[in-house]
Amino acid sequence: MLSQPLFAQALIVCALSDLVRSLSTFQWPNPLLSYADRQLYEGPLQGFAKGCPPRDNTTIPAQWLRIAYHDMSTHNVDDGTGGLDASIQYELDRSQNVGEGMLTSLTDFNGFRIMSPFFALADVIALGAILAVAGCGGPFIPFSVGRVDATEAGPPTVPEPQQDLASHIESFRRQGFTPTEMIALVACGHTLGGVRQVDFPLIVTDSSTVLQTFDTTPAFDTAVVSEYLQNTTQNPLVIGPNVTTRSDFRIFSSDGNATMQSLLSPINFNQTCSSLFERMLNTVPSNVNLTDPITEPFDYLVMNDNPSRTVTLLWADRQGSFCPPAGCSQQSNGTQSVLFTIIGQMQGVTALRYPFNATINATSSISKFWFEVNENDGSEPIIVDNGGVGFVIEQDSVFVDIGRSEHISVDTAVEVDEFLTLVVRGDSASASASVTSFTPSLSGTPPFTPTLNKTDLQLDPSNPPEGGYTFFTMNTTLLPTFLDITGTSSSGTVTQKNFDMTVVNFPFIFIS
Ligand code: HEM
Ligand SMILES: *[C@@H]1O[C@H](CO)[C@@H](O)[C@H](O)[C@H]1NC(C)=O
Ligand SMILES: *[C@@H]1O[C@H](CO)[C@@H](O)[C@H](O)[C@H]1NC(C)=O
Ligand SMILES: *[C@@H]1O[C@H](CO)[C@@H](O)[C@H](O)[C@H]1NC(C)=O
Ligand SMILES: *[C@@H]1O[C@H](CO)[C@@H](O)[C@H](O)[C@H]1NC(C)=O
Ligand SMILES: *[C@@H]1O[C@H](CO)[C@@H](O)[C@H](O)[C@H]1NC(C)=O
Ligand SMILES: *[C@@H]1O[C@H](CO)[C@@H](O)[C@H](O)[C@H]1NC(C)=O
Ligand SMILES: *[C@@H]1O[C@H](CO)[C@@H](O)[C@H](O)[C@H]1NC(C)=O
Ligand SMILES: *[C@@H]1O[C@H](CO)[C@@H](O)[C@H](O)[C@H]1NC(C)=O
Ligand SMILES: *[C@@H]1O[C@H](CO)[C@@H](O)[C@H](O)[C@H]1NC(C)=O
Ligand SMILES: *[C@@H]1O[C@H](CO)[C@@H](O)[C@H](O)[C@H]1NC(C)=O
Ligand SMILES: *[C@@H]1O[C@H](CO)[C@@H](O)[C@H](O)[C@H]1NC(C)=O
Repeated sequence: MLSQPLFAQALIVCALSDLVRSLSTFQWPNPLLSYADRQLYEGPLQGFAKGCPPRDNTTIPAQWLRIAYHDMSTHNVDDGTGGLDASIQYELDRSQNVGEGMLTSLTDFNGFRIMSPFFALADVIALGAILAVAGCGGPFIPFSVGRVDATEAGPPTVPEPQQDLASHIESFRRQGFTPTEMIALVACGHTLGGVRQVDFPLIVTDSSTVLQTFDTTPAFDTAVVSEYLQNTTQNPLVIGPNVTTRSDFRIFSSDGNATMQSLLSPINFNQTCSSLFERMLNTVPSNVNLTDPITEPFDYLVMNDNPSRTVTLLWADRQGSFCPPAGCSQQSNGTQSVLFTIIGQMQGVTALRYPFNATINATSSISKFWFEVNENDGSEPIIVDNGGVGFVIEQDSVFVDIGRSEHISVDTAVEVDEFLTLVVRGDSASASASVTSFTPSLSGTPPFTPTLNKTDLQLDPSNPPEGGYTFFTMNTTLLPTFLDITGTSSSGTVTQKNFDMTVVNFPFIFIS
């Protein structure tokens, strides 16, 4: 018997997605979408944005929102180049990107990515903006992923305060926004943060002011609009001493204040900012395809708490036949509550996780699995089967045996040693195995370019061949999250990309 708890645990997450999504188009497996959903609803990045915390005399969310706009500002609708592509990493020396928040934010995002290599840095910038707005009490912004990181700088096309209105209208047109949308986008952005004296000494002239905020509240709210319309604003881009750099005034008043009047309504402000920010974040080079937007926690089963509910995992063997009931099913052992991020909290959703730890006969193996959810209230059990096809195991020739992969605390205070056990179908004389892992840049200086590291594994001395499988092992220091794994045997080479390790409860480390 081969212990394959990974399959079972992975499925909880995926199966739960299906239950909610069975009426829509989500179909398992979709590792990127599942992963993005989990990061939005359970990921650690939100810890920085929750409660709109102060930093550097502004707020972390203000810094995160600004960098998203500046990164996206390289887009050109006319030729489809540029957009949210993390090219900002190569553009920090430009005066238009002045501000210590830029480097600090990128460092935040790279730290998150060490644990989450599955995302492009540009996807993390987008997630950061979404969490920033939510963290300061703003609206939800649907999250799409699949961005591709640029490998060089884009054009220097971030608008600057001393430029005239015609230049700004042209800048926003080039980025894909109308003059009216420009007004709203600037108002939505400038509800957070402000202008730093050291960066713009001709705009904030009082040298005792570190940062002059755009409005009197740190929150994501309409104060930037109402204070402007009431003529009480201290926004330095409206009332600054030098008329040339009053760009917010020129933009806000460019349609006789009509758009600003409409944004006085908090509901309209919410809706307008959410949809414009969604478009801003989804502005990518035309050869990049994004996923459908994530608007709900579809990686989870979201339903009323029912302590009587039982969830059963069932599977079919390699031939596709269902084994005797006792052999190919397992009931979930208890539940784990899911602690949702600010996104789940603002949407008012809760979830329970049903863990499984199934042992699968190595000889008969597994071809697909599904679930039965029984409320035990007299109603018919619900079958969760990925829209009828089941959750198909694409291959069982090579996988990571989570049950045998262990992490050992060498020194519980500091070091954690881990090893990984990879299983390849085939005999030890002919089998070999390798993994390709993502090694993030730890240099502390952008660009944060990751390297891919391929490692050949050695035969595992503590797990002799069993059930037609050979075991391989490697020592690893960084906790892996996603791995490309390759196994070779006399019947050929099989590679599984993005094998998901994150469903396992490895000890969680996050650098804050
Ligand atoms: C004509 C267009 C714009 C101009 C001229 C402009 C100008 C500026 C300037 C001069 C600062 C101060 C930066 C510093 O002191 O380091 C700033 C901050 C900021 N801008 Fe804009 N901006 C524009 C559009 C936008 C848009 C569309 C957004 C939308 C996301 C945005 C979001 C922000 C945020 C959040 C801050 C505060 C950053 C912080 O407090 O750390 N800006 N902007
Ligand atoms: C605000 O700015 C002042 C002056 O530069 C600095 O001493 C202080 O540490 C800053 N506060 C924060 C929270 O960054
Ligand atoms: C705007 O959205 C936030 C977050 O969903 C919500 O708390 C707030 O009540 C909304 N405001 C209005 C006026 O709808
Ligand atoms: C707005 O306030 C400024 C001074 O803060 C004043 O010079 C200006 O006349 C006011 N404008 C209106 C329309 O009240
Ligand atoms: C006003 O700002 C513009 C653009 O930065 C600058 O060229 C000009 O010298 C400034 N005027 C004054 C009086 O500082
Ligand atoms: C727009 O509002 C501002 C702030 O109250 C005011 O100074 C300006 O005159 C208004 N512009 C128009 C065209 O009404
Ligand atoms: C993006 O989608 C289009 C249309 O489905 C497809 O032709 C193209 O190959 C895709 N591009 C990438 C990079 O996946
Ligand atoms: C069920 O879970 C409990 C608590 O996590 C554990 O102690 C017990 O061993 C588990 N039982 C089985 C059959 O896995
Ligand atoms: C899973 O089940 C196996 C065999 O029943 C057991 O040895 C192992 O400790 C279990 N793992 C967990 C995490 O419960
Ligand atoms: C595993 O499956 C094989 C093939 O169906 C069967 O012969 C064997 O008895 C099974 N082993 C166990 C422990 O159930
Ligand atoms: C992994 O580390 C252990 C203990 O440090 C060592 O005995 C073993 O040889 C290492 N295995 C590999 C594959 O390097
Ligand atoms: C690649 O992985 C091996 C084994 O884990 C490790 O010893 C080596 O330092 C890694 N190389 C890089 C560049 O990370």
